[in-house]
Amino acid sequence: MAKRIDVSGLTAYYGSHKAIDDISMTVEPRSVTAFIGPSGCGKSTFLRTLNRMHEVTPGGRVEGKVMLDDENLYAKDVDPVTVRRTVGMVFQRPNPFPTMSIYDNVAAGLRLNGSYRKSELAEVVERSLKGANLWNEVKDRLNKPGSGLSGGQQQRLCIARAIAVEPEVLLMDEPCSALDPISTLAIEDLISELKERFTIVIVTHNMQQAARVSDRTAFFNLAAVGQPGKLVEIDETERIFSNPSVQATEDYISGRFG
Ligand SMILES: Nc1ncnc2c1ncn2[C@@H]1O[C@H](COP(=O)(O)OP(=O)(O)OP(=O)(O)O)[C@@H](O)[C@H]1O
Ligand SMILES: [Mg+2]
Repeated sequence: MAKRIDVSGLTAYYGSHKAIDDISMTVEPRSVTAFIGPSGCGKSTFLRTLNRMHEVTPGGRVEGKVMLDDENLYAKDVDPVTVRRTVGMVFQRPNPFPTMSIYDNVAAGLRLNGSYRKSELAEVVERSLKGANLWNEVKDRLNKPGSGLSGGQQQRLCIARAIAVEPEVLLMDEPCSALDPISTLAIEDLISELKERFTIVIVTHNMQQAARVSDRTAFFNLAAVGQPGKLVEIDETERIFSNPSVQATEDYISGRFG
């Protein structure tokens, strides 16, 4: 579990449009890496190349390599479905399966993976809901629909669903942008706990959030409108926010941008 990611020369296209160009970086296990940068610079696109979701978009194409420890996720014999199980994802808007109960939402991924005994399933559901700091709030209504929870609870439900299948990496694309400040802090606390077990990559527009939760920060930018997004620099979060190497990074984090 908690493997190291090593990306080299990653370029992604939508049809003929090159969205991100030649990105290389490593992500250490049991750490949180934040992706920051202006809208349209390719943060979400890059994130989705890390679990082979980019290619699900019509015209979506990738060049380059993503190593998860010693396995290239883009090698010919690799099954993208397995990759998506190993590298889980949490989206901007909480997206619980609306007609499913809280219990079934968490159990859904496990059921897809194979057969579990009822008691085993119940154990994993409880462990995952506890892991997502949601258990106490829902333990008496596990059979109620997941869509009946608050936004922050729904997002923690989605995190429970994602961690139930024991992924090695957890990708989060602006997981708090639809949440109130209290739910946001709850998710941030949760991220700090989860990094003891998982490798986490989070996209955020909230500079305070990046500074609070991440160990390392990657700044992405566009050279000009219509140009592909590039990785400008990646470094210790403390360093990015106090003394970045590149002027554009400083301009962005201090709000003097475009
Ligand atoms: N489904 C798509 N089809 C075609 N082009 C797309 C698609 N999704 C994104 N793009 C383009 O790819 C580029 C990168 O978009 P992306 O969504 O990755 O940026 P982002 O950094 O996540 O932006 P934001 O901060 O607004 O979420 C943009 O030029 C965008 O228009
Ligand atoms: Mg995005």
